[in-house]
Amino acid sequence: MFVRIEELSHLYLRGTPFEQTALRSITLAVARGECVGIAGHAGSGKTTLIRHLNGLLQPTSGRITVNGVDIAARDLREVRREVGMVFQYPEQQLFEETVFKEIAFGLSGTGMSIANSDRRVREALHAVGLGEELLGRSPFALSGGQKRRVAIAGALVMRPEILVLDEPGAGLDPQGRREILELLEKLRREHGLTLLLVSHNMEDFVRLADRVVILKNGAVAMEGRTREVLLDVGALESAGMAAPQITYFMMKLKKAIPEINDRVLTVAEAGAELKRVWGRKPGRKGSHAERDDHGAVLPGAIGRSQVGPEDQDSPGHDFHGGRVCC
Ligand SMILES: Nc1ncnc2c1ncn2[C@@H]1O[C@H](COP(=O)(O)OP(=O)(O)OP(=O)(O)O)[C@@H](O)[C@H]1O
Ligand SMILES: [Mg+2]
Repeated sequence: MFVRIEELSHLYLRGTPFEQTALRSITLAVARGECVGIAGHAGSGKTTLIRHLNGLLQPTSGRITVNGVDIAARDLREVRREVGMVFQYPEQQLFEETVFKEIAFGLSGTGMSIANSDRRVREALHAVGLGEELLGRSPFALSGGQKRRVAIAGALVMRPEILVLDEPGAGLDPQGRREILELLEKLRREHGLTLLLVSHNMEDFVRLADRVVILKNGAVAMEGRTREVLLDVGALESAGMAAPQITYFMMKLKKAIPEINDRVLTVAEAGAELKRVWGRKPGRKGSHAERDDHGAVLPGAIGRSQVGPEDQDSPGHDFHGGRVCC
């Protein structure tokens, strides 16, 4: 395994009256090129966990190896080149006068020539989809989404093999979130990055993560393939989390229409399932659905459009006068 976290525990303010156990014997492995999603209720230890990955925090006990080497035994600068970190709040990460200086920060002290660092900064800027006109601007004068991208560029400029992101979509509008996710997908596809992604949003994981880890009170409560974890709704809820909204919708619908497969995680999957059950695309009225032997539309078909496709042709559903009873 590329990254191994073994029996990692972390206590804050150890030995003081304020001692706080944030992580309890966490064991996890991440393969090269894999994307692992990390979720858990507020205070469950997500940020504490990932901050160990580039040496920002030291384990109270346990260890972390990257490529087989314990990071505690390595030069931290080297570890930070290999493991890029994007903080939960970009404001915590940005402090330079200009976007250029901000992105170039990690390169200072590496002995890289000005020409080379200039090239690397522009390369990182383009990789996150920002234009060069921003290079002279103050990072604090940018929008939330732009700040997030600058923070990601500041990590990418080091050409890391692992990118760790703490809530990269937090505080962004839906379009901003979508753009950041698309960016991460692109980075993974084009640069083969190994990603560790902390998010509260399960939809982010459906799209991006191979596996998901759910933390609860500093310990691993669930771990497995993304679909398996997110569809285990009872266990998710016990861990203080929730499945995607569309999964709950389909679970309710299944109560009225038992043949529906409610193991869906996205609106697209739900659409495909409804189409499978109702047999055709929505929006084409009066075709072969619900007709008798002479081609007349059967009573009861009207009104079903309130719950989905307009010409459902799967008989036997309990629609209760046109509305699905859930
Ligand atoms: N600097 C600190 N000093 C003392 N305790 C801390 C410190 N940082 C975090 N903690 C405590 O450690 C626990 C885990 O915090 P952490 O920030 O890792 O949680 P989180 O899962 O990232 O939460 P959130 O979803 O709110 O970001 C919490 O109980 C928190 O109060
Ligand atoms: Mg956090």
